[in-house]
Amino acid sequence: MEKLLSHLAYLEIESPDVEASASFYADNFGMRIVDRVDGAVYLRCWGDYYRYSLVVSHGPQPRLSRMTWRAASPEALAEAARRVEAAGVTGEWADAGHAHGRAYDFVGPYGHPMRLLWEIERFGAEPEQTSIFPDRPERRSSHAGAPRFLDHVTLASPDVDGFAAWYRDVLGFRLMARTQLDDTDVSVFSVLTTNEKSHDLGVVLDHSTMPGRVNHIAFWVDTHEELLISADVLMENGTPMEYGPGVHGIGEQHFLYFREPSGLRVELNSGGYRNYVPDWAPNTWTPGKGGMNFYRNGATVMSIYESFPPADGLTATEDGVHPDMVEALTNS
Ligand SMILES: [Fe+2]
Repeated sequence: MEKLLSHLAYLEIESPDVEASASFYADNFGMRIVDRVDGAVYLRCWGDYYRYSLVVSHGPQPRLSRMTWRAASPEALAEAARRVEAAGVTGEWADAGHAHGRAYDFVGPYGHPMRLLWEIERFGAEPEQTSIFPDRPERRSSHAGAPRFLDHVTLASPDVDGFAAWYRDVLGFRLMARTQLDDTDVSVFSVLTTNEKSHDLGVVLDHSTMPGRVNHIAFWVDTHEELLISADVLMENGTPMEYGPGVHGIGEQHFLYFREPSGLRVELNSGGYRNYVPDWAPNTWTPGKGGMNFYRNGATVMSIYESFPPADGLTATEDGVHPDMVEALTNS
């Protein structure tokens, strides 16, 4: 299969309080508001090459309303759409609207809205934001610990292996690693990628009956030191750390997790390996091998398994963790 997708371009999320979420991303996290259109707020990181990487619009609950991926070429976009249709999913060609060209929109087999496009607006900074370095879309943010780029999105599905296989087989994602429970064949987590990063798409097990949920959205800083500064800035401004800072075994990124005002989980990453192997065969991890926590020396916070929108009537443990997994995670 020729390369179909190049990378994750932007995410659209919903929040019950758009202004609270937008001001959090801009004032506390270090992104910048670039546009407001029809009640939606468009934000970018200083290093994002396209005009925006996050769109916040109003909705009753925190939710991922769409993930948009850039194809590898105009021909790859057409081929990706053809493959989606051949897999039995009917999408539609649409005008991608604000700042973007034609796009192919569809809902993946586990309920996740996805947009594929080729045409997209490259960001051009205003003179007062122009970097002294030609390759930077704008000058480095003066906000301490500000994210440089959008990094990845991790979704939730009742069938982790089925989800991973569909995105691998239909759209050409490389399946990079998977986690299943010790002594069982229950698959609870997988990571996939369109490029050399360890992942730009993740999937966790979902025990709810709600389709299309998201576990977290993630951004990137260049260094571990910046990640620690970001944690410091967030905490000083009223945002506690949900989990981390720490290091993942899978991907080997430094990480921290926190919640934005809607309750949606946001991750910040730095580091990690690059993997260019075209026929990479994913290894299978178990919780005890340290996929979540490289050092294998701390309990995973159970709230990390909650996905969004929240599943009525389920505790965090019931939401995303197989009952057999609780003890393993608590002890790993
Ligand atoms: Fe993540």
